Amino acid sequence: MQTLHLTDRETDLQLAADLLKRGELVAIPTETVYGLAADAQNGVAVANIFKAKGRPADNPLIVHIAHSEQLQDLVADVPSAAMDLSRAFWPGPLTMIFKKAPSIPNEVSAGLDTVAVRMPSHPIARRIIELSCPLAAPSANRSGIPSPTEAARVAEDMDGRIAAVVDGGSCEVGVESTVVDVTGERVRVLRPGAVTVEMLAQVVDKVEVDDAVTHEVQAGQTVSSPGMKYKHYAPNARVVLLKGTPTAYTAYVNEHATDGVMALCFDGEESNLNVPFLTYGKRADHAAQAKQLFEALRLLDERHASVAYTACPSPDGIGLAVYNRLLRAAGFEVIELD
Ligand code: TXA
Ligand code: MG
Repeated sequence: MQTLHLTDRETDLQLAADLLKRGELVAIPTETVYGLAADAQNGVAVANIFKAKGRPADNPLIVHIAHSEQLQDLVADVPSAAMDLSRAFWPGPLTMIFKKAPSIPNEVSAGLDTVAVRMPSHPIARRIIELSCPLAAPSANRSGIPSPTEAARVAEDMDGRIAAVVDGGSCEVGVESTVVDVTGERVRVLRPGAVTVEMLAQVVDKVEVDDAVTHEVQAGQTVSSPGMKYKHYAPNARVVLLKGTPTAYTAYVNEHATDGVMALCFDGEESNLNVPFLTYGKRADHAAQAKQLFEALRLLDERHASVAYTACPSPDGIGLAVYNRLLRAAGFEVIELD
């Protein structure tokens, strides 16, 4: 299959929408990361997403909508906390888990009785949904590796496997949406993102953060979100997270400088390092870290790093999302320096 590379011109967006309505797969930009989209009501098309990504069949997908009215057909009911959260954060990087409507194909919900829904804010994503239909879309990477934040990265992973990629430039947020379960008594964060725990707590009373956000899921443990079980965001390089001051970080890296070692550090903290390095935003700038992280992880492989000693972000605000992705990229290998 020859993958079309489309632009943000209206004729291209119309073509993308037509392909989607015909059951083809199209990668689209969102404000978080690129998504690999299919018509959410077309079970065969959705099944092809799993094939193109190599995604485990028990990991459900997020349905993307452009207007609140589209929610009614997808979910069994809308709890009042979800109403409040959608008013505050949609369109934007927040996904909510609802009891699903019967019309949701099993391929989308992977056999669960719930469905994840989000309303992206990216104008290209919104326009394509308006011209087509609600779209099921996971991140547009091959399963297990860092999500793409550039169209060229999507093409690396998906060329020849999907009908088209729409280029919308770099994704603004850089990490995937916040996922919250709104089906229970309390709103529970299953995956942290740019809609932070602090922001959620300003809208709803009770916000819990699932243990699996910062802790490794043990074999046999029941998880709230199937995605928590799997290896994620991992480059080929072994990622090791180093927790401590900039001085302790530099000292540790230099002591362990051998062939293939690279440093993934904060901007401005690279000057005394004796190994090749990449930076991913300033220590205090969590938004910049989120935006740059996945591209940095992919660059480690391009530079043939075998080990990446990575400076650990503080887990507050969007930093919790960056920390969560890095923990998984590192397979939870964390060293406390101080
Ligand atoms: O920002 C995003 O959310 C991006 C863009 C493309 O929208 N999408 C994305 O999709 O990150 P994906 O498939 O890579 O991650 C979806 C996560 C997975 O961890 C999955 O297990 C979880 O959401 N999820 C989906 N449906 C669920 C459900 N019904 N119950 C619990 N977790 C669910
Ligand atoms: Mg993903």
